[in-house]
Amino acid sequence: MRGKAPTLFYLLLLVSSLIPPHIEAETNGRYAAIFNFGDSLVDAGNLIVNGTPDYLATARYPYGMTYFGKPTGRCSDGRLVVDFICQEFGIPLLPPSKAHNANFKQGANFAITGATALETEFFEKLGLGQVVWNSGALHTQIKWFQDLKPQICGTPEACKEFFSRSLFILGEFGGNDYNAPLFARRKFKEVYAMMPHVMKSISDGVEKLIAEGAVDIVVPGVLPVGCFPVYLSLSVNMFKIKKEGFGSRSGCMKKFNTLAWVHNSLLRQTIAELRVKYPQARIIYADYYSAAIQFILHPEKYGFAKQIPRACCGAPGEGVYNFNMTAKCGEPGATACPDPSTHWSWDGIHLTEAAYGHIARGWLNGSFADPPIIPTESSSR
Ligand SMILES: *[C@@H]1O[C@H](CO)[C@@H](O)[C@H](O)[C@H]1NC(C)=O
Ligand SMILES: *[C@@H]1O[C@H](CO)[C@@H](O)[C@H](O)[C@H]1NC(C)=O
Repeated sequence: MRGKAPTLFYLLLLVSSLIPPHIEAETNGRYAAIFNFGDSLVDAGNLIVNGTPDYLATARYPYGMTYFGKPTGRCSDGRLVVDFICQEFGIPLLPPSKAHNANFKQGANFAITGATALETEFFEKLGLGQVVWNSGALHTQIKWFQDLKPQICGTPEACKEFFSRSLFILGEFGGNDYNAPLFARRKFKEVYAMMPHVMKSISDGVEKLIAEGAVDIVVPGVLPVGCFPVYLSLSVNMFKIKKEGFGSRSGCMKKFNTLAWVHNSLLRQTIAELRVKYPQARIIYADYYSAAIQFILHPEKYGFAKQIPRACCGAPGEGVYNFNMTAKCGEPGATACPDPSTHWSWDGIHLTEAAYGHIARGWLNGSFADPPIIPTESSSR
């Protein structure tokens, strides 16, 4: 498989050069830069800038096999949503913000695997200090952004002006916050009790970016984790989900999806309040949730195989999900499916490049965003 990757890479280059350039011409130059914050869904390599730790399976082959031909620290077989968005706007793929000697004039990616909305102290107070592995929470990432300003812009006025012409993507955040109590087998009641704090953190984050001059801000919601192979493989033995706890069409765990759904509806409410407070800003709700549900209910529309939620890369474990905690993608015993574009789930936790591409297009054109990132006549401010 290693030998095949470069050929596929050049083929992709060839195919992309055949796509008519008119779409590019419309959106190219729309933004001076893109700044991205988040967790492993959008980490572009921040965790491995000083080398790859031994424990980190996501930085090993076959991660990266589809587009880069090698692992880059991205938790996917190829590009992430933010990469597709950069390409749409003619901006080079964002360097991880911790990269040495990188050029940040057109943006930076502050996302880091494991990131939470809440600070480590919050989890320590709940007795969850052991289960969070926080390498840079939301407000730590915003601090990294503020520290990087001297390398991006000049005077405070010049920075504000530059950021007003940039696109900011804040999230998703929340997924890892809820993972911590869920994997510690805490009650759902305790998980729900965290939500107002998560909302406050995200809301404060948006306000900090607006204070820096940001105008266009994308705020993504969380994914339907009840459909994720990692959770599904633990559904019976660890989470004790009975037959009626699974959706009859989706095969997903209802309790977990309801949790994500409630987070997202609170987030939309939070965004609505921010819009009233900052009418000059354009705050976009970006929907990972509906996209993933569509992949499961209408796989044929997206070129995915019709099947129970199943990881492309992994090994057999509990159930039919191709997820095994002791042989995860990148670890000995795990293999990738021959064509990752037939699966929406890459490693049971993160999505494939194919899935991220559909999501990015939906955020840009509006089928999975409110309003669309690329304004239409009726949605432009
Ligand atoms: C998970 O993988 C390990 C090998 O790492 C294997 O011994 C075990 O049988 C697998 N579990 C299942 C349920 O297949
Ligand atoms: C928008 O993107 C989605 C996701 O890829 C796609 O299914 C849909 O056809 C696109 N719509 C338009 C109008 O381009």
